[in-house]
Amino acid sequence: MITERLRARTAHSAAESAPRAAEIIRAGGLVAFPTETVYGLGANAFDAPAVARIFEAKGRPTFDPLIVHIADRGDLMHLFTAKARSDQRIDLLAERFWPGALTIVAEARPEVPGLVRAGLGTVGVRLPRHETALALIRAAGTPIAAPSANRFGRLSPTTPEHVLQQLDGRIDAILIGEATEIGIESSVIALDVDGPARLLRHGGIPQEDLAHVLRDHGGLVTTPSTAHPGVPLPAPGMTESHYAPVVPLLLATREFPAHVRDCALLAPDLDGLSRLVRLGNESGAVVHTAVALSDALDPVRAAAHLFERLHELESTLLELNLPAAHIVAAPYPEGGLGSAIADRLQRAAARPQRGGIA
Ligand code: TXA
Ligand code: MG
Repeated sequence: MITERLRARTAHSAAESAPRAAEIIRAGGLVAFPTETVYGLGANAFDAPAVARIFEAKGRPTFDPLIVHIADRGDLMHLFTAKARSDQRIDLLAERFWPGALTIVAEARPEVPGLVRAGLGTVGVRLPRHETALALIRAAGTPIAAPSANRFGRLSPTTPEHVLQQLDGRIDAILIGEATEIGIESSVIALDVDGPARLLRHGGIPQEDLAHVLRDHGGLVTTPSTAHPGVPLPAPGMTESHYAPVVPLLLATREFPAHVRDCALLAPDLDGLSRLVRLGNESGAVVHTAVALSDALDPVRAAAHLFERLHELESTLLELNLPAAHIVAAPYPEGGLGSAIADRLQRAAARPQRGGIA
């Protein structure tokens, strides 16, 4: 499979190529595109299966939250809640640094797919400055979720050659545009409801400049004090800020966990779900709800809605007000995107559990 190469180095070629690339995005495809920081690998941010394919193409073993790229500040209303948008710091930062290398993380509207935010309640948004990126987002008519366009663990790409070396044949198209002049990723700043803004990742905008703008608005803190400029801080994938179920999740690796009574079940597919339901019944558990991640085994579909399914199971159990309830999940088969799903379930299962089985 050869990746479609669309040239957009001049205003003229961009005017021709951006609509074609946008068509691919709207159809659920993946397009690599230049920004002023690094090349991104984009999909329609509101198309969860397309977003799942990003992780598949990158070979990411876990789901990290993605940055959503917009072309217009007005698009924030589709991404941030009204409460988040009323935070004056967004206006201050956007006035000063957008379009540009700043990602703002704030409370997400519920419509933003769980996979884009890796199950968090927040979403990161950036309005890039690169003309090709802006032309693509405008033509697509939808915000574009995009991590850097590299395979997992490799360096971020700053040329089309870097992208093609790593992703040719794994994506639908690459939009080849002007240079990525900054060459390192955006700075990522989190605006929590309370407390000072937090710098989650050093990047294209110097920390001092960010701190200056926020000086009369609660200031700016960096999370680990050992951070060095240009060195990424620990990504959410490695920290607790990921999806953490309130209801304990257990993996039914070989047998059904013996002490479980009230439970909700999650399995990779319908066959796996019937097996899990049978095991649950045999061990005397009360199964309140049971969900398969897809009918037949399908990691792209499963990944697309994994976090939503976990939240649904959790809220069902919370509504029933069963203090000792558990989510019991059958492990996801490893391989490709399956490994990322398996990883998320293992991390969810490793959480400290409510109500204290130590
Ligand atoms: O310059 C950039 O930011 C490039 C271009 C393509 O825009 N993108 C990029 O994406 O570097 P990526 O996926 O490689 O890094 C995104 C990082 C995550 O690892 C995480 O640290 C942070 O952005 N992030 C995104 N959403 C977040 C959220 N809801 N909460 C906390 N951190 C978030
Ligand atoms: Mg990256």
